[in-house]
Amino acid sequence: MDKQELINIAIEARSLSYSPYSHFAVGAALLCKDGSVYVGSNVENASYPLSMCAERNALYSAFMDHKTKDDFVALAVVGDTDSPITPCGACRQVISELFPMNAPIYMANLRGALKETTIAELLPFAFDGSDL
Ligand code: THU
Repeated sequence: MDKQELINIAIEARSLSYSPYSHFAVGAALLCKDGSVYVGSNVENASYPLSMCAERNALYSAFMDHKTKDDFVALAVVGDTDSPITPCGACRQVISELFPMNAPIYMANLRGALKETTIAELLPFAFDGSDL
């Protein structure tokens, strides 16, 4: 699967967003080595901090289907932003623990803009279990 196909799946997942408070829908798609793809969208709550981002929903969904870090190949994230969307700080922390350090993360928008990065680049000097 090429990166545009994965981004298109993230765009589809974005339509599942439950975001009545921010009105800002985000979609994510997580590609695995076996070709399977797990999706996520942001799911908000009237108690705002309980809201969950698209990226974390995709990762947690994969874990609930017995996938782990070594299974993941790439992650795509899409929002209706001017520039390619970038994962929030909380998601960066979770991605740094659950997703391979140097695997591609495709940050995209609905207008065809794309920036490719890694979690190593997005969260240098990450706090991890070795610090405990
Ligand atoms: N959000 C995501 O789902 N992923 C991101 O990368 C950025 C922010 C969500 C959280 C909240 O539901 C809405 O977008 C506005 O912040």
